Amino acid sequence: MNEIVDPGTGWTVRSFDEIDSTSDELLRWAAAGAPEGATVIASRQTAGRGRQGRRWQSAVVGNLYVSFLLRPDMGPDRFAPLSLVVALVVAEEIDLRLRGARTGLKWPNDVWVDGRKVAGILLEARKIGAESVLVVGVGLNLRTPGEGWRDLRGKAVALDRFGPVEEPQTWLAALLPRWQAAVLRYEAEGLGPFLEGWRVRCVLRGREVFFREGRYRHRARVIGVGDDGSLTVEVAGLGVRSLFSGEVHLEEIGR
Ligand code: BTN
Repeated sequence: MNEIVDPGTGWTVRSFDEIDSTSDELLRWAAAGAPEGATVIASRQTAGRGRQGRRWQSAVVGNLYVSFLLRPDMGPDRFAPLSLVVALVVAEEIDLRLRGARTGLKWPNDVWVDGRKVAGILLEARKIGAESVLVVGVGLNLRTPGEGWRDLRGKAVALDRFGPVEEPQTWLAALLPRWQAAVLRYEAEGLGPFLEGWRVRCVLRGREVFFREGRYRHRARVIGVGDDGSLTVEVAGLGVRSLFSGEVHLEEIGR
């Protein structure tokens, strides 16, 4: 393990060649008193985790696997939209670095390029003593592996398909200060400054989706992202509804 202080943020960054999951390592570090912005990056993960209990394929060296800790000055009810903020920063950074790639955002927190997923965010809130902390895990596909990619059934892509890509450490050095600034801005101003970036990239707009609510499965048409970060949909027979991340499981129709 190697530990440095990131010059752009002042955040402490621990790097591992291999770890079970950067988010799990960060949770252990948080329990032992890790400071705001504590960051864990690994070249490989043996137990990378995705949303909704899924695995995150993490054997490929050259991808970004990173988690950072926030001790936000706000109630836990304001945590969830942070995943939109973090995802938007990733999309903007890709747009800056790779001119051949046009990013999209799939609510609530997937980054797409060319109709396929290139990055995912896993936001986990935990109580440590009386304090609520947030572990933000980000996986960004930079390199296309050989075999095995087919397992993802054509739903994922890596950025090297769109041009030369830099090393994960270079991406991290660029992303950390942007994440830090964006989180501070969200704390001070809410989601307002981020909505336009989301709305122009929202890949679900106009699409038909299914979402589950308890035992029920509804078919809906996506209208867009609401001011509070919810997904506004029109449900046949039920009218317009706001869906909040964590409460719904979306399935796209026709993908
Ligand atoms: C998703 O399901 O889209 C979220 C994927 C998040 C993956 C990242 S990789 C770094 C961090 N460590 C993990 O175990 N998961 C997150």
